[in-house]
Amino acid sequence: MTLTIGVDVGGTKVAGGVVDEHGTVLASNRRDTPADDPAGTRDTIVEVAAELAVAHPEATAIGIGAAAWIDAAGSTVLFAPNLAWRDEPLRDYVSKAVGLPTVLENDANVAAWAEFRFGVARHADSMVMITVGTGIGGGIVLDGKLWRGANGIAAELGHIQSVPDGHPCGCGRLGCLEQYASGNALVRFARAGARQEPERAAQLLELAGGDALAITGRQITEAARAGDGVACDAFGQIGYWLGVAMADLAQSFDPEILVVGGGVVDAGDLLMTPTLTTYHDQLKQRGRFPVAELHAAETGNTAGVVGAADLARRP
Ligand code: BGC
Ligand code: NA
Ligand code: ZN
Repeated sequence: MTLTIGVDVGGTKVAGGVVDEHGTVLASNRRDTPADDPAGTRDTIVEVAAELAVAHPEATAIGIGAAAWIDAAGSTVLFAPNLAWRDEPLRDYVSKAVGLPTVLENDANVAAWAEFRFGVARHADSMVMITVGTGIGGGIVLDGKLWRGANGIAAELGHIQSVPDGHPCGCGRLGCLEQYASGNALVRFARAGARQEPERAAQLLELAGGDALAITGRQITEAARAGDGVACDAFGQIGYWLGVAMADLAQSFDPEILVVGGGVVDAGDLLMTPTLTTYHDQLKQRGRFPVAELHAAETGNTAGVVGAADLARRP
């Protein structure tokens, strides 16, 4: 049995795990991400990986999945729309500090890889996944290979444009999918809805102490489950934009399966129903040919750790 270490670096937490070749997590740890501090983020990653390496000296390699654009060589963080990270030679730093070979990859790419190897796409040869969290990430697997692109930044699906001249995005562009279908977008839609139509947001406003600007993602899920109109609409809106993007991806890549992953998928049908409805509605010629099935991810919040660890065991 070979063990590898996976580290998932997001905007709020750095999660680590020791993983076997079946994708089982044998040990795990986590720290908060000092998101405004790139050096602190780097050192937190080292701490998380080193702690696991000391506890499991049989681990042979480290895989890092980071919410960032990574160069073609898989060595450097180029840019991160939601973290203060620019031009950081992260792979070699971690490898040297912990003393293990290290692989660096985008967070959504590793989550897609986890779904492809061990999750809902494990029987497929090709898949495209969108992760819905704070931001929107993408991962593309074609003919069994993770598609990294010529410059390493393939599958930045959160930054395809949904709305011309729309809401400004952390990447510098206007109207990105990330601004219309992410967890952050869900909160923006719900806050706006609660201010415009407070009478349809009674449950939501109650959970938020009466302050529309204090509404959180968790409260939106809770209120939507209780039937709150504005909360349900907010899911309807992000699901709509996600469904439109999924139809574009079906027509671009024609994969066997499309997957929706990321933390917001925990909301279940609240997200998947409007996404599926729009997806099918947008594929106007469906029925004339088979189209990609669209499913929720299965590996849950360990996807990043498991996918990163599995990529680390590959040459
Ligand atoms: C970043 C991606 C990342 C995604 C999810 C996006 O804003 O551009 O690199 O995968 O957020 O964390
Ligand atoms: Na990606
Ligand atoms: Zn963008």
